[in-house]
Amino acid sequence: MTANTVGRLCFRNVNVLAPMVRVGTLPTRLLSLDYGADIVYSEELIDIKMAQCQRVVNDVLETVDFVAPDERVMFRTCKKEKDRVVFQMVGYTQEPSLSAMENDVAAIDVNMGCPKEYSTKGGMGAALLSDPDKIEAILRTLVKGVSKPVTCKIRILPTLEDTLSLVKRIENTGVAAIAVHGRLKDERPRHPVHCDFIQAIAEAVSIPVIANGGSLDRVKAHADIEEFRKATGASSVMIARAAMWNPSVFRSQGLLSVEEVMEEYLKYAIRYDNHAFNTKYCLCQMLRDKVESPLGKQLKSAQTNEDICEGYGLQEYYKKTQAELQARREAIQTNHNH
Ligand code: FNR
Repeated sequence: MTANTVGRLCFRNVNVLAPMVRVGTLPTRLLSLDYGADIVYSEELIDIKMAQCQRVVNDVLETVDFVAPDERVMFRTCKKEKDRVVFQMVGYTQEPSLSAMENDVAAIDVNMGCPKEYSTKGGMGAALLSDPDKIEAILRTLVKGVSKPVTCKIRILPTLEDTLSLVKRIENTGVAAIAVHGRLKDERPRHPVHCDFIQAIAEAVSIPVIANGGSLDRVKAHADIEEFRKATGASSVMIARAAMWNPSVFRSQGLLSVEEVMEEYLKYAIRYDNHAFNTKYCLCQMLRDKVESPLGKQLKSAQTNEDICEGYGLQEYYKKTQAELQARREAIQTNHNH
């Protein structure tokens, strides 16, 4: 599958890593791409917070960082994912806050499906679903103001009629694709996904529809992705939880053991200086019911990426990578001084 043949991200016939808070940081995205994902979404980030960030080119890590006033790296990206990463925003999504970053990503997505109270109480996330005028206004502003493709991610509405009317309005704004999580705002992730709604949406619009919501009961490994796509009649499939538990779900040759995948994940986390709390969080999601195992316990007590490496026998890799980064830091410093 090719997601980017003509310089602009194409959302047809692609397997996509879904946006996931905390999980969808750089190491998960790179690993998912390695295993065969065509497109990777970032975790959702609040537009007003992004507007306060400074864009910093990090020569040592070879990344571009968006750094908050409190020095926290809100979004880190690199060349390897530049043509494949979709930046997900939540908020009223003012176009000026995006102009700083649109050149560093392949597309911009607006999350209109988040049912969590912190999103909906401010009128963001899924609260937008009952305000199609606002949806339209946000998407039109973005499509006009941003040079990259714009997509949006929604949940379905209680009636098919309202859902189809909404997606047609969304299509008319000029978005490049629409991701549909086939559940109602108040349905929980364990409820069955409504493939029939996604199918009706796919028939009603001509832009690519990306089917989402199949992780629990339908998608366990790569072969199931195509089954889910067929069951929904969508162009593409977006995977969240199955990829959070084991990103090798994207691998056409089949799943790898979670032990092997965790090791590869950790290498990316070290190489890109991922925050240790985030590294721990992602590894814990992969351990799932094994969090009480000796490895799980060690992971829980670890405070740094170096501590985490001990549990995985990656101390040598850690040292070697740190030495390489340090050498690059010194070389850059020397160049600066000349
Ligand atoms: C999510 N989901 C989500 N959706 C979104 O649009 N932006 C986000 O930042 C997040 N964050 C997030 C974090 C975690 C840990 C989970 C499990 C889920 C929802 C997600 O993208 C997806 O819509 C649902 O999980 C349903 O897809 P699956 O899990 O059945 O493939």
